[in-house]
Amino acid sequence: MSSKALHNRSHFAFASDNYSGVHPTIMDAIITANGGHQTAYGDDIYSRKLDELIAECFGQQATNYPVFNGTGANIIALSALTPRHGAVICTTNAHIYNDESNAPAYVAGLRLLPVKTADGKLTPAHIKSICQSNQGNPHAPQPTTVYLSQVTELGTCYTLDELIAITTTAKSFGLYTYLDGARLANACAYLGCNLSDIAATGIDILTLGGTKNGLMMGECLVVLNPAFDGIMPYLRKNHLQLASKHRFISAQFVAWLTDGLWLTLARHSNQMAQYLYQKIKQLDGIKFTQPVQSNAVFLSLPKVISQKLHQEFSFYDWNAQTGEIRLVMSFDTTAEQVDTLIDAIKEYLH
Ligand SMILES: Cc1ncc(COP(=O)(O)O)c(C=O)c1O
Repeated sequence: MSSKALHNRSHFAFASDNYSGVHPTIMDAIITANGGHQTAYGDDIYSRKLDELIAECFGQQATNYPVFNGTGANIIALSALTPRHGAVICTTNAHIYNDESNAPAYVAGLRLLPVKTADGKLTPAHIKSICQSNQGNPHAPQPTTVYLSQVTELGTCYTLDELIAITTTAKSFGLYTYLDGARLANACAYLGCNLSDIAATGIDILTLGGTKNGLMMGECLVVLNPAFDGIMPYLRKNHLQLASKHRFISAQFVAWLTDGLWLTLARHSNQMAQYLYQKIKQLDGIKFTQPVQSNAVFLSLPKVISQKLHQEFSFYDWNAQTGEIRLVMSFDTTAEQVDTLIDAIKEYLH
């Protein structure tokens, strides 16, 4: 342990990709951006470089607004897309529905219309059904916005065709679509696609998530529909997400988007999830509850086993009733760390 560290620097966890630290290249980028003075609030050289990179990745029409965190990004984007009489269609697993306290309602006055899904994925049929029953009825919340997350909260990914089908249906009912891409890099790694392919699906605004994939902190709102660009600087400020020392968020994204680091890290965490899955998929007593399509593995196993595993490893019980657990890999998870988990699972199952 380093003399200054207050924690064991070799401790690892499978609880969340938020538990991991900062990739060394990103830490270097922060250090390099330090020293001297730069204009505050986003008018700095790193933010201008980020503008160039975002335009290269998403197309010339794309504008970007780096923010501190994912909850803030969601609230800003949904506020931009949703009028006062509007409501947001999402799933019952959605991060905005389950994991952001009352922020959507309290901060932005957003009404959510959640639908149940088995795999965390919204479909055109869900959108159609809500629109057909609510649209035009002044007593009902008017669906105006679709919230998707890619990767979903259950670790699954929409295909590009599924995204196109959703945005096409949304548009046919006059709705806009926001994609929460807290783990968009993992989805691109899984789908073998580029960020430009995601931009081409007809999404209006998305978040490019950095924190869960090697950044110290930072998410980047990307506005793909220019109709919403004008309002964003104001919404970011009045939702408390404009950083004064903005250069340090932009500098992280610049390093992350350079030489494909974002994709290399996401591919690695996805590979670790696949590695775990391949090594334990045949074991009796384990049932995979979702397909492994990202850096998360959802499975159920007898409670006595997960209780024993909890004594050695950090991970979340996803459903205490069914014994479903969630294991999440990070950019710095190693095969050896996964092996220690596999060995423990095998030992306890026998
Ligand atoms: C899909 C998704 N969206 C948004 C967030 C919110 O991010 P933050 O905790 O930075 O507010 C998370 C965090 O886990 C997430 O998983």
